[in-house]
Amino acid sequence: MDRYALPHDLSGEPDRLALMSQMLDPQLFFRLRQIGVGQGWRCLEVGAGNGSVSRWLGQQVGETGSVIVSDLTPDLIRAVEAPNVEVKAIDVTSDELGSGYDLVVARALLHHLPGRTAVLGRLAEAVGEGGWLVLEEPDFHPVLATDNPELRDFWEGWLAWAASEDIDYFVGRRIAARMIALGLQDVRAWGETILYRGGSLTARYLSSTMHELHDRLLASGFISPRVWDDAMALFENEDFWSWQNSYVTTVGRRAAGRGRRGS
Ligand SMILES: C[S@@+](CC[C@H](N)C(=O)[O-])C[C@H]1O[C@@H](n2cnc3c(N)ncnc32)[C@H](O)[C@@H]1O
Repeated sequence: MDRYALPHDLSGEPDRLALMSQMLDPQLFFRLRQIGVGQGWRCLEVGAGNGSVSRWLGQQVGETGSVIVSDLTPDLIRAVEAPNVEVKAIDVTSDELGSGYDLVVARALLHHLPGRTAVLGRLAEAVGEGGWLVLEEPDFHPVLATDNPELRDFWEGWLAWAASEDIDYFVGRRIAARMIALGLQDVRAWGETILYRGGSLTARYLSSTMHELHDRLLASGFISPRVWDDAMALFENEDFWSWQNSYVTTVGRRAAGRGRRGS
């Protein structure tokens, strides 16, 4: 198992994951609708956090479909009690994933995993004939476009710290080519960002992520106390607007063969 930077026992994690669901679910649901997710689909979600995506998937696939919602630590998966949704503990780096799914989906997971390339291969393997792999991961290029020099210092420090921890905050741009190398078809990718305002949902999400990592960030030396204070003040300043990182949604499909499903 790869080490994970933001384990669920951090005190702010349930709230941070709730903000994440609120911020990102609409974009992912739009893309899932676009590939046609619907009645009868057999789905797997890995690294599900609080399970908001699988809760919605359970409603889309109906009684004839099924959803496995999983996480390394599934303790925060809530309110997905439905006969067609099963909660499982799955370490995506090593545990059996099953096979033949119509949809395998993960959001904001691969960037954290040093073994991300191998994990992407494992996820692709789990997709059945005619099924889809849908991955949504960050690409931080927009944050460096800020006009504010203090915030640029903050993001440069943050990205240097992440690289030192083998967290890839630019992985979003790399997934489409990898899906093609793995033999998936109809590969497409879209990056979406938010122009956020201090005090907004997005600013609160960014601030809560940073506060969970405060001690490690400052101890690393990549972010000074002054740069930290300036950035946190901007995240609260309602007169301040800036770019969030983008989230890149990449979709790819396994060619349909003899039957829609594998084993
Ligand atoms: C940033 S959170 C994203 C949660 C959710 N996908 C979302 O977008 O709201 C990453 C999640 O991946 C899980 N995770 C980390 N390492 C994992 C692993 N090796 N296998 C499965 N899940 C893992 C964490 O427990 C956490 O819930």
